Amino acid sequence: IYQVPFAENEPVNSYAPGTPERELLQNALKEARSKEVDIPMYIGADEVKTGKKLPLNPPHDHQHLLGHFHEGDSSHVEQAIKAALAAKEKWASLSWEHRASIFLKAADLIAGPYRYKINAATMLGQSKSPYQAEIDSACELIDFLRFNVQYMTEIYSEQPESAPGVWNRLEYRPLEGFVFAITPFNFTAIAGNLPSSAALMGNTVVWKPAYTQIYAADIIMQVFKEAGLPDGVINLVYVNGPTAGDVVFKHPEFSGLHFTGSTEVFKNLWKTIGENIDIYKSYPRIVGETGGKDFILAHPTSHAKDVATAITRGAFEFQGQKCSAASRVYLPDNISEEVLKFVKEDVKDIQMGGVEDFENFFNAVIDKKSFDKIAGYIEKVKDSNVAEIVAGGEYDDSKGYFIQPTVVVTKDPQFLTMKEEIFGPVVTIYVYKQDNFEETLTLVDETSPYALTGAIFSQDRYAIELATKKLSQSAGNFYINDKPTGAVVGQQPFGGARGSGTNDKAGSKLNLLRWASARTIKETF
Ligand code: NAD
Ligand code: ALA
Repeated sequence: IYQVPFAENEPVNSYAPGTPERELLQNALKEARSKEVDIPMYIGADEVKTGKKLPLNPPHDHQHLLGHFHEGDSSHVEQAIKAALAAKEKWASLSWEHRASIFLKAADLIAGPYRYKINAATMLGQSKSPYQAEIDSACELIDFLRFNVQYMTEIYSEQPESAPGVWNRLEYRPLEGFVFAITPFNFTAIAGNLPSSAALMGNTVVWKPAYTQIYAADIIMQVFKEAGLPDGVINLVYVNGPTAGDVVFKHPEFSGLHFTGSTEVFKNLWKTIGENIDIYKSYPRIVGETGGKDFILAHPTSHAKDVATAITRGAFEFQGQKCSAASRVYLPDNISEEVLKFVKEDVKDIQMGGVEDFENFFNAVIDKKSFDKIAGYIEKVKDSNVAEIVAGGEYDDSKGYFIQPTVVVTKDPQFLTMKEEIFGPVVTIYVYKQDNFEETLTLVDETSPYALTGAIFSQDRYAIELATKKLSQSAGNFYINDKPTGAVVGQQPFGGARGSGTNDKAGSKLNLLRWASARTIKETF
C-alpha cells in the first residue's frame, strides 16, 4: 500500500459570534463587495478576456454588481480542447505522487489562506449562509481533494495475483483523449471535484461551469494554479452549454463526460454522444449525477419531533437547492398532526434574508429562472383542490429571489409536487393510514422516476428492515432515523441511480475508477 497523508474530514467552522473566523469571513465579504471582479477564462497558459462581459450579481441582492466574466464561443472550446490535448502526454506521464501533491496543496490552500475568500464568493455568488458555504466550498471541497488522493492510491495498489515464473500487473492509464467536466450552479465543491478528480487520474480536462457559479469557480482555478497545476491540465471556459457541447461531442478525442446537473440535460447529452459514437477513438465514459425527488418516510413508531426536524432541515437548508433535499414526505396518521405542528413552528422561526446577516438561516434561490419555476409550482398548489399550503407560500423578487420555505399537504400521493423535482424550498406531505405502511413503501418506490436519497424513521427494527429491503432501488443514499441530506466525503459515498444518475458515487474509488483505463501486463520469466 502506498503511503500518503491520511485523509481526515476537515473540521467545520461554526462562525458563532465572537469567534475569530467570523470576523475573518466578514472582512472577506466586505472586501468582495467593495471591488468588481473581471474574470477571464483559463485556456492553456492564457487568461482569456473576450470583451463580451456578462454580469455577476448576488441572488439575494440582484441590483448589486460583483463584477463580470468574459463569455467565450465555440472557438474558445476548440482552443481549450487543443490545450488539453497538448498538455496530455506530459501530465499523464508525471508520477502520481506529483499529481497528488498538487491537489493536496490545493486542499491546504483552501483550508488556509483561501478559506474565507472562497466562502465569501460562494455566499455572494450563490446566496448561501456562512455555515452552508463552509460545508460546501471549504470542507466538502477540501475533503474531495484529500480523499481522492487516498482512493487513487488504493486503486493503484490493487494488483492481480501472479504465478511461478509469471508477473501480472495492472497499469491504470488515464483515458485516451480529454475529459469534459460540466458543473451545476448549486455546489462549489462539485465545481472543484469534477475537473480535479479526472485530472488527478492523469487526464486533461475542459471544464464548463454554470454561469451562476463562475464567481467561485474562478477562485478554484486560481487555487489550482497556485498549487502548481501545469497549464492546460484543466481549461476553464464560459460558454453556453449547447455551444460547448456542439464542439466537444463532435471531437474524436472526446473520452469522458463528468457531469452534474439536471436529468433532462444529462439524457440529451447521452443521446448526442450516442449519435456520434462512430467518430470517437474509444467508447467515452459517461458519468452523471442528476436530479432527485428525495423522500422521508415515517413509520407509526417514529418520534414526531425527530421527523419534523428532519423535514425542516432536509427540505429547507440550502434553500432546498440541493439534489438531496427532502421534497416528499409520507406521514402516518397517528403522528401526522403532531409532526405538522412542529414543522409549522420550525418554519415560523426560520429567518430569511441576505447572507451578510449571519443570523439568516435561509437565503435566496439562485436566479430568476429558478424563482419563476418554483413560484409556478406554488401557484399550481394554490389552484389545486387536492393540495394546500400549510406554511409559507409567498415569494418576492424585488430585491433578491426570495421564496418562503413552503409546506404543502396533499390528499393525492400522485400530486405533481410529490413526483417532479422542483429544486427549491417546497416540501409536500402525504398522510397515510397507519395500517398501510407496506402499501406506502410501494408508493414511495413507484411515485417518482428518481432514486437519489431517502430516509426511514422508525423505532421498529422489523419495519426498518422491511423498508431497507423494499426500497433497495429507491435511493442511492438511504438514511435510517436521519434526514436524507448531508453526506460527508469519506463517510457516505454519494449518488443515485434511475433518473438520478449513473451512481458512480462522487468522492469515492468507484468514481475515480471511471477516469482510468486499465492495461493488464503479463511478464514471463
Ligand atoms: P442544469 O442541468 O440546468 O445545468 C447543469 C450544467 O449543464 C450547467 O453547467 C449548464 O450550463 C450545462 N448545460 C445545460 N445544457 C447543456 C448542453 N446542452 N450541453 C452542455 N452543457 C449543458 O442544472 P443546474 O440547474 O445547474 O443544477 C441543478 C440540477 O443539478 C438539479 O437537477 C439537481 O438535482 C442536480 N444536481 C445533482 C447532484 C447529484 O449529485 N445528483 C448534485 C448537484 C446538483
Ligand atoms: N452531499 C450533499 C448532501 O448529501 C449533496 O446533501
